[in-house]
Amino acid sequence: MSRLSGKVIVITGGAGGIGEATARMAYAEGASVVITDLESTPVEAIARSLGERAVGLAVDVSRREDNERMIAAALEHFGRVDGVFLNAGIEGEVGPFDSRSDAAWEKVFAVNVHGVRFGVEAALPGLRKAGGGSIVVTSSVAGLRGAAGLSPYVSSKHAVVGMMRCLAAELGPEGIRVNTLNPGPVDNRMMRSIEEQANPGHGEEVHKMFASRVPLGRYVTNEECAAMAVFLFSDGATGCNGNTYVVDGGYCAQ
Ligand SMILES: NC(=O)c1ccc[n+]([C@@H]2O[C@H](COP(=O)([O-])OP(=O)(O)OC[C@H]3O[C@@H](n4cnc5c(N)ncnc54)[C@H](O)[C@@H]3O)[C@@H](O)[C@H]2O)c1
Repeated sequence: MSRLSGKVIVITGGAGGIGEATARMAYAEGASVVITDLESTPVEAIARSLGERAVGLAVDVSRREDNERMIAAALEHFGRVDGVFLNAGIEGEVGPFDSRSDAAWEKVFAVNVHGVRFGVEAALPGLRKAGGGSIVVTSSVAGLRGAAGLSPYVSSKHAVVGMMRCLAAELGPEGIRVNTLNPGPVDNRMMRSIEEQANPGHGEEVHKMFASRVPLGRYVTNEECAAMAVFLFSDGATGCNGNTYVVDGGYCAQ
């Protein structure tokens, strides 16, 4: 299939579970991809393993100038930008609300909220020049529900849902669609970290407890999340704007 043929997609958090899976799936669907993450080595290796239509770049999304450099790289290498996957995120520390330091809150918001804002701001001129496009922000089921012990993360993931709704209303008339991907627990590094922080030395038990709350009986995979992101970048999704796209195995259904 080549649902993204001719499209140029920029991806943040591209060395992580969901980001790499999306880069690989988007490439297989014909897109050219700029794959970014904090360190250059892993994203350059992923890009090399894909081929000529892939470029890897070190980008810290919490820095405005890095976001601008990332979009400039898409224009320089591939001449346009059609899609932006603002997916980089951090879980922060797990613990009671009143035990979080100012620095802990600020770090989570710098990456998960302002990183998304900078990414949108940097991408808009290129998306407008292309005559429209698709922005997909990775929120979470934590952007739709509360969770004890995860207040900075949950707050940040709610914030980007609000940002997405404002952007969808503002940019829809220009043909720029904005949506969030809202995964439930995903079988990857981030959930391992949350499980281990929730009950040090007994992460496996926390995993089982979370999985038992999912009607499918398991975490979703990076590839299942990537499939939704790729759909939202495709012309199959031209009617999708301003919504939350949940991939959670039924977690939010009960
Ligand atoms: N794993 C889950 O269960 C889950 C569930 C719902 C939502 N999410 C969200 O999915 C997104 C992707 O996470 P993942 O699950 O692939 O986890 P991950 O930890 O594997 O990937 C996150 C990536 O973001 C990168 N990153 C962190 N800070 C950055 C910064 N300042 N600049 C650039 N890159 C940075 C990390 O290096 C990492 O590669 C995140 O926004 C996360 O909050 C994850």
